Amino acid sequence: MTKITVNGTAYDIDVEPEMPLLWVLRDELNITGPKYGCGIAQCGACTVHIDGIATKSCQVPIGNLEGDVTTIEGLGTPEALHAVQEAWVEHQVAQCGYCQSGQIMAAASFLAETPNPTDADIDEAMSSNLCRCGTYPRIRAAVKAAAVKLEGV
Ligand code: FES
Ligand code: FES
Repeated sequence: MTKITVNGTAYDIDVEPEMPLLWVLRDELNITGPKYGCGIAQCGACTVHIDGIATKSCQVPIGNLEGDVTTIEGLGTPEALHAVQEAWVEHQVAQCGYCQSGQIMAAASFLAETPNPTDADIDEAMSSNLCRCGTYPRIRAAVKAAAVKLEGV
């Protein structure tokens, strides 16, 4: 049995230690916010937080996991969205939506480390996540707006 804590809930799961965290989340725990895009650390669709750090969950064998996992389902609540989620809604960032949970998780982790980012900071940080719909201008605007919101927290 492997112990894992996701969004504040502890689970015991019986899987091979090589199974990537993304598969555990989606197929064992039915937590489907993190998406499978490439499986090779290139797209960021699978991004979650491990102890607050944005991490590509397709690259973490469950046997190597150290830390608590947060997915988009645990970032905020419908009644109290995270500032990044609020900004995403206000800027209508999503197009098809497939990449967006990963984008939001990457942005939330980035802003926790970098409270007053420049455009260059944002572009560099968010280059870890691809969007085939090309929502990059709205992503940048929403990250800037979220940074302002977080300043007031
Ligand atoms: S599915 Fe993990 S980076 Fe693409
Ligand atoms: S919104 Fe479609 S891939 Fe990003």
